Amino acid sequence: MAFPVRLVAMVAGLVLAAAAEGEQGEQPGTAQQRAVAVLGRMSQAEKSSLVRGVLGAPWGGRSKPQGSVGSAGYVAGIPRLGIPALQETDAELGIANPGNIRPGDKATAIPSDLALASTWDPGIARRQGAAVASEARAKGFNVLLGGAANLIRDPRGGRDFEYFSEDPLLTGLMAGAAIDGAQSRHVISTIKHFALNNQETDRVVLDARIDRAAARESDLLAFEIGIEQGRPGAVMCAYNQVNGVYSCENDWLLNQVLKGDWRYPGFVMSDWGAVHSTARSAMAGLDQESGDELDTQNFFDSIGPAVADGKVQQARLDDMARRILTSIFAQGLAEEVASDPPDFAISDETALAIEREGAVLLKNQGLLPLPANVRRLLVVGAHADRGVPSGGGSSQVIPRGGIAFLEPIGRNRAMIFDPSSPLDAIRRQFPHARVDYDDGRFAGRAANAARLADAVILFADQWRTEGVDAASLSLPFGQDTLIDTVARANPHIVVVLETGGPVVTPWLDETAAVVEAWYPGQKGGEAIAEILSGAVNPSGRLPLTFPRSEAQLPHPTMQGDPTGAPIGPVGRGGHYDRTFVAQYGEGAEVGYKWYFDRGERPLFPFGFGLSYTTFGLRSLSASADGARVTVRATVWNSGARAGVAIPEFYVSGPAGANIPLRLAGWSRVDLAPGEEREVSASVDPRMLATFDESARRWRIRGGDYRISAGFDVERREAAAAVHLDAAEMPP
Ligand code: BGC
Repeated sequence: MAFPVRLVAMVAGLVLAAAAEGEQGEQPGTAQQRAVAVLGRMSQAEKSSLVRGVLGAPWGGRSKPQGSVGSAGYVAGIPRLGIPALQETDAELGIANPGNIRPGDKATAIPSDLALASTWDPGIARRQGAAVASEARAKGFNVLLGGAANLIRDPRGGRDFEYFSEDPLLTGLMAGAAIDGAQSRHVISTIKHFALNNQETDRVVLDARIDRAAARESDLLAFEIGIEQGRPGAVMCAYNQVNGVYSCENDWLLNQVLKGDWRYPGFVMSDWGAVHSTARSAMAGLDQESGDELDTQNFFDSIGPAVADGKVQQARLDDMARRILTSIFAQGLAEEVASDPPDFAISDETALAIEREGAVLLKNQGLLPLPANVRRLLVVGAHADRGVPSGGGSSQVIPRGGIAFLEPIGRNRAMIFDPSSPLDAIRRQFPHARVDYDDGRFAGRAANAARLADAVILFADQWRTEGVDAASLSLPFGQDTLIDTVARANPHIVVVLETGGPVVTPWLDETAAVVEAWYPGQKGGEAIAEILSGAVNPSGRLPLTFPRSEAQLPHPTMQGDPTGAPIGPVGRGGHYDRTFVAQYGEGAEVGYKWYFDRGERPLFPFGFGLSYTTFGLRSLSASADGARVTVRATVWNSGARAGVAIPEFYVSGPAGANIPLRLAGWSRVDLAPGEEREVSASVDPRMLATFDESARRWRIRGGDYRISAGFDVERREAAAAVHLDAAEMPP
């Protein structure tokens, strides 16, 4: 790892406990020692079997592999050595059940990672990981394909709802905490998709071109921090190429950066269908082929012959097996761990807490919270009578309680609604009000109903899915017109967005309030209703920028050909017949950094979110001890309600340092009306440094650094300076 854990930026008051090396049970020795001992007893065939994963599902005429629970991936165990099979399930937002492989098996649908990131609360991310992993263990899984830590470079990304943010520190701390929570339950978690899998368009033929130093300061930094915090047992390499080489055979990414500079001790597994070679991949650092039926051929089946031919060294195959064994032992997979039945009350409570903390109040002109004595409400749209939407793809969960509604999208896809009806929850929050529902299919009809109501709650949704990026930032299905028409009929309207990323809001001026609820998960309806009534004071803050339009983006048109094929793994006999070069010329200037550098004002800035109370910030100070900077400020609640303030600290560098503006830390404090508190954060030295690729070191330029603090990237209310001497740090 790049820095000792204690040097890594910590959120004030939320000291992240470093996970102890996960030795379980009564076996002597460290995980590495045990791995070496077992390796010494393994045959060549056993080593080869450990590096080869298959689909854990029926495929191409063959039935489910014997022993497989039924999921995305399976690696046979070695019973004579006490090595368990690896039962791998997607688990980003709950336990997936692709194609209903396990008939009728359901799981808790967790709110999207954008909701989780909006909490800015690593503690709740840790709880999320633990809750999901408990359900996974009870279903027989021991490898969780979660920890999606790609930066959100494009707000149209199909998987943005599975990712955390546009900022490397926020992404790394939140993803790392979720991984840490998961691994507290005796499972291996991945961190994925390493690296630069920032868009779905053309993802398997895409060559992400980026300056290496810029990558170290952006996408790779998110992974670096996530790995330090979460210590995932596995890293999943991505579909795309990075600077001309596929991620899963990219020596720079895997050998040099991950295993070299970061000294990563676990194993690298491929994404499903992301392997393109045997010896090249193995020698570049890939340790395990996953779901190999999705590759054009079974590459790691021939690892034995490749060793015999001298194309792969024996030491390398040993290293591959040793790394896998190390993670198995480190996370206690080889030990008998009593697997209690999952506690669904904890899962539900976690899902509810994430949405309560993660929904972001974007606008409020006094309409919210709705008064307790409101007499007549109208709820409109987005199947809010049934449930709340979720995103598609490998992270899709079949929710406990059953699918509330299936909305067909195109010919063979459908948006799944989780069974948490906002309408029912609103009725419970407002027992004395008449609450009507209009499905919003006819704007005129909804407008007529709106005229009769004291206030209108209009739900608008947008489906995102793995494999396809959003065609635009506009709400689909004529919902902009619906909102506009209803808002003109009744200006007392709150729009609740249930989206997988930012959207543009041409109707904003017509509305009184807007809440971004993301994909709200299994308890979403309840959480939204509590926010509307004021039972919960919203505290979510945007983990990414809402642009005014696509024209503000680094790439106003998505790079690649959205109608081109293929977008998924091609499988046996397929071929990748073209490469598409995506130039990420914006380098490390992702999200708010891009806008700031150009003086552009977005629709809603990074870090933004309203509360039913107001906060103030003063007395910002910064002190340095070598390269370690501590920032302090006083925050207070200047309103009449208790609420959560999230003061954000930013840094910018002296002339020539090439650090225009970066998030450096934050704090999360509960404040009673009138209460004030001193908050502090310890700044990760990498936030003050740039990466020198030729020397492979972080460098801090000597000079005066500006520290600023406030409640979003544009509303920075206080500034201070701190002098740093020039310094350099190993990666
Ligand atoms: C996705 C991964 C997922 C894997 C297994 C791939 O298509 O990119 O995130 O873990 O499938 O389902």
